[in-house]
Amino acid sequence: MLKIENLEVSVDGKKILKGINFSARRGEIHAIMGPNGSGKSSLAFTIMGNPKYKIENGSILFDGKDITHLKPDERAKAGIFLAFQYPHEIPGVPLGKFLWTIAGGGRNFADFSKEFKEKMSLLKIPDEFSKREINKGFSGGEKKRTEILQMLMLKPTLAILDEIDSGLDVDSLKIVSQAVLEFTQSKDKIVLIITHYPRILNYIKPDRVHVIFDGKIVLSGDYSLATEIEEKGYEKILKEIGFHIQKKDITAKDVL
Ligand SMILES: Nc1ncnc2c1ncn2[C@@H]1O[C@H](COP(=O)(O)OP(=O)(O)OP(=O)(O)O)[C@@H](O)[C@H]1O
Ligand SMILES: [Mg+2]
Repeated sequence: MLKIENLEVSVDGKKILKGINFSARRGEIHAIMGPNGSGKSSLAFTIMGNPKYKIENGSILFDGKDITHLKPDERAKAGIFLAFQYPHEIPGVPLGKFLWTIAGGGRNFADFSKEFKEKMSLLKIPDEFSKREINKGFSGGEKKRTEILQMLMLKPTLAILDEIDSGLDVDSLKIVSQAVLEFTQSKDKIVLIITHYPRILNYIKPDRVHVIFDGKIVLSGDYSLATEIEEKGYEKILKEIGFHIQKKDITAKDVL
């Protein structure tokens, strides 16, 4: 189980998360939505333990253990995985070697290799990608599929997918969604899908949908909330519950 209580986080002295309360049980899929800059990726980085995101207050419990102050590699070992919104290139490190190092887990290489090939084929990633340096020259969609490949090989308990659907064509979206669905078959996983679009949620039906605005979860509901957002837009929905998106005219003073 993941339990986040009153989480307040700042970056470079600026408060970004302002009291997040959230919980998810194993077997559940949660969608996290919200306008640009509302704090979705910051929440993902904070759960993963990125040291840039300073926890000022609150706690993160995972499977009954307080992980608030664990290092990112300790969290990864505890079964937490983050698929990045903007995956990084790792020059000089071939994809296959990387996955063998992080997901080999003392298995014999033939077993690992068999599984690796199966997952690559499930995600329609060509074999030669195993020799390519991670994300170097990969297209947007190839990067996203590679993130999911890492998830399938690592088999985390908690997978946070930050805009895994952005930049994917219709076929790739289906491929990625099917892979995520297969991943959730074991029913002991928690998946957090950060997205702007209900399209991916048509394939991967979330148990709950949450809206983050200005560093707080301001609204939670079932799947229908995602379609309501698509139809009405954030401004209208947030206004109904008493929040106002401030759109300020930018003047020269703001930028110079
Ligand atoms: N490392 C950082 N340095 C400075 N500001 C940051 C940093 N990380 C996040 N922020 C700021 O925190 C706020 C929330 O950003 P975040 O990336 O979490 O938003 P988001 O909800 O993921 O948006 P999007 O939908 O555009 O991906 C933004 O105003 C952003 O500029
Ligand atoms: Mg983001």
